[in-house]
Amino acid sequence: MMSKSRVYALIVMAVVFSGTAFAERIAIIGTGDVAGALGPEFAAQGHEIVYGSRDPDRSEVRELVARTGQNAAATTQSASIADADIVVLAVPGRLAASIAADLGDLSGKIIIDPTNNYVRDDVPRLATATSNAEAIQAAAPGAHVVKAFNTLNWRHMVDPDSSGGPLTIPLVGNSAAAKEKVAQIVAGMGLEPIDLGPIQNARYVEGMLVLWMHARMHGNAFDYHLRRAAAQ
Ligand SMILES: NC(=O)c1ccc[n+]([C@@H]2O[C@H](COP(=O)([O-])OP(=O)(O)OC[C@H]3O[C@@H](n4cnc5c(N)ncnc54)[C@H](OP(=O)(O)O)[C@@H]3O)[C@@H](O)[C@H]2O)c1
Repeated sequence: MMSKSRVYALIVMAVVFSGTAFAERIAIIGTGDVAGALGPEFAAQGHEIVYGSRDPDRSEVRELVARTGQNAAATTQSASIADADIVVLAVPGRLAASIAADLGDLSGKIIIDPTNNYVRDDVPRLATATSNAEAIQAAAPGAHVVKAFNTLNWRHMVDPDSSGGPLTIPLVGNSAAAKEKVAQIVAGMGLEPIDLGPIQNARYVEGMLVLWMHARMHGNAFDYHLRRAAAQ
């Protein structure tokens, strides 16, 4: 059953975007938990979804395509980006920048980056000197990278209400227009977007999982979401 916030979000989207050419072709690279959460959510907003998989013919991928809906397909990673307006890198964080580099020309496309990339050491730390989002932007300089969804467990992507209240999704990137487009998609999922500035801020957003891992290793497990404060 659809959550209350998603039903509301879909009604708002239908009213706001009716009559506009809002539907996008979205390539989702990867077919794991995050791809399997975001793909059907994006398809429910009318977007066309193409999964990019190392093995698009395997049964799990076919099942994912079937539950995503009519306008969904799967192909190889590099073929999936053809004519895509948006590319989602739902892949292991340590591989995301090299996968972006291998995809081909991503110029002009929006890249949604939900990845986390940390070293699980005695004191966990980010695996990059800057952030994964910045590494991806460097690998695809003509694309517009928007960091989004990395602060949210995939279960809450599908069912925001299960967190007990509204969830805010930080968006970080250098293109205001790209962040605005991603914000519309986020809102359509019943989540609340917030613009947290340029791509250099991605390291702080990615650092939240480092803190989470540190606490978990020391017996202080916690869950976290961002939630917008009441108007000040
Ligand atoms: N899980 C969460 O709740 C969550 C929440 C927020 C952010 N994230 C972040 O989002 C990203 C994806 O998370 P996930 O849990 O969906 O990961 P995952 O289950 O490990 O899935 C990643 C997908 O990437 C593809 N892949 C795996 N190894 C690859 C390789 N060597 N080369 C190319 N493609 C490969 C696979 O798709 P194919 O087998 O079809 O190629 C796989 O399904 C990660 O960076 C994670 O840190 C996860």
